[in-house]
Amino acid sequence: MSEIPIIKAALLGAGTVGGGVYQILQWQKEEMPKKLGASVEISKILVRDTKKKREGMDSALFTDSWEEIREDREIRIVIELMGGIEPARTYILEALRAGKHVVTANKDLLAEHGRELLDTAEEYGCDLMFEAAVAGGIPIIRPLKQCLAANHITEVMGIVNGTTNYILTRMTAEGMEFSQALARASELGYAEADPTADIEGYDAGRKVAIMASIAFNSRVTFDDVYVEGITKITAADIAYAAELNMVIKLLGVAKNSGDGIEAGVYPMLLPKDHPLASVQDVFNAVFVHGDAVDDAMFMGRGAGRFPTGSAVAGDIFEIARNIRTGSTGRIHCTCYKNLRVKPVEETNSRYFLRLQVEDRPGVLAGIASVFGNNNVSIAQVIQKNKCGELAELVVITDHVLERHFKDSLLVLREMSMIKEVSAILRVYG
Ligand code: NAP
Ligand code: HSE
Repeated sequence: MSEIPIIKAALLGAGTVGGGVYQILQWQKEEMPKKLGASVEISKILVRDTKKKREGMDSALFTDSWEEIREDREIRIVIELMGGIEPARTYILEALRAGKHVVTANKDLLAEHGRELLDTAEEYGCDLMFEAAVAGGIPIIRPLKQCLAANHITEVMGIVNGTTNYILTRMTAEGMEFSQALARASELGYAEADPTADIEGYDAGRKVAIMASIAFNSRVTFDDVYVEGITKITAADIAYAAELNMVIKLLGVAKNSGDGIEAGVYPMLLPKDHPLASVQDVFNAVFVHGDAVDDAMFMGRGAGRFPTGSAVAGDIFEIARNIRTGSTGRIHCTCYKNLRVKPVEETNSRYFLRLQVEDRPGVLAGIASVFGNNNVSIAQVIQKNKCGELAELVVITDHVLERHFKDSLLVLREMSMIKEVSAILRVYG
């Protein structure tokens, strides 16, 4: 019997995901030769602190020297799980230039420097895979790049941040305010010590940039994505949504509407019967529309040691198969178009506006005339919760140009009859 080839790999990072990947590769040890015709073996692990005890990991493999890994010609695959821009960017570029294939889960890096990394991989005939960078364990990069490659994809929309979906789910189910739900997410270890990237929508924005680039075959970077977080959502907004038979979700939305790409992250009122409305707690889901496939949805765990490790290990297996069959570097950067990304002012949406206004005749007419003068058509008005001299007014618009809606707001904010603009949200549909 011929000997099973061993493919050596190095892990950069032994934290949440690095530790998970190491463990999954141990679990797969017996079956790997049958699945891949080869065995992948971690031969070095780069960490900052080589003395730190790491459950289930062989401390003899730890090193704090990147150069040792880069110069080791036996290492064929580098698995970057450190996070951040530098030194991850430099290490990946150097690995590719040394002819090593790379797997990464680093969305921050890909959303900013994706083109540079993919161009370098192509130049050196290497694989660069990043399934775990979007929606953790959910397969979405490979489906978009391969299984759905024969489509013109017009829309990718999803819940791609588990922390914020958990917070909004708890606010909806238990009537909590944002700060209480965030505190609960932190207690359970869902929210990071600094939750800014999640709650302000930056994490989701990076994932939207990566998905849009692949779906529309045109580079979209994080700077192109319009981002709003969930910090201003209140229990009152959630209660209004429920009254309208809707829920509020933080959505990442990318559309190719013919005259350019729209890419944004914002909280949105979504009908309860929309498939994404039932995605609860830390789960993620991505909804894709293509001209041939029609609608498709992918759902699962968007974060965590083993779900994310599963996606990383899947990429490692794919590369091992490519090495064994001599077919690495097969799938290059697929951004062969140069489409314009529209500024948010050029996009269309329905809006939900919650106002505190003086409770007297003529107020509603005044507000309606401001909208009318700015080409904004009103679909629905709800008035209630009288509090002293003030009334709470909710206006839901038809589909309007963002620029027209913003122009109306500039006027409304100056009107003495309007005491507070309490909430502005988008409405699906
Ligand atoms: P983590 O727990 O903070 O682990 C990071 C690891 O990288 C640690 O072992 C750390 O070493 C090592 N490291 C960091 N900087 C280093 C440097 N300059 N030199 C050497 N080692 C360095 O991070 P994580 O949660 O596993 O995330 C890793 C990546 O996966 C990130 O890009 C993240 O965005 C992505 N991701 C994570 C998840 C998730 O659920 N956590 C989901 C999807 C994607 P020390 O231990 O010695 O400090
Ligand atoms: N912090 C992210 C989330 C997971 O809450 O979904 C890593 O992408």
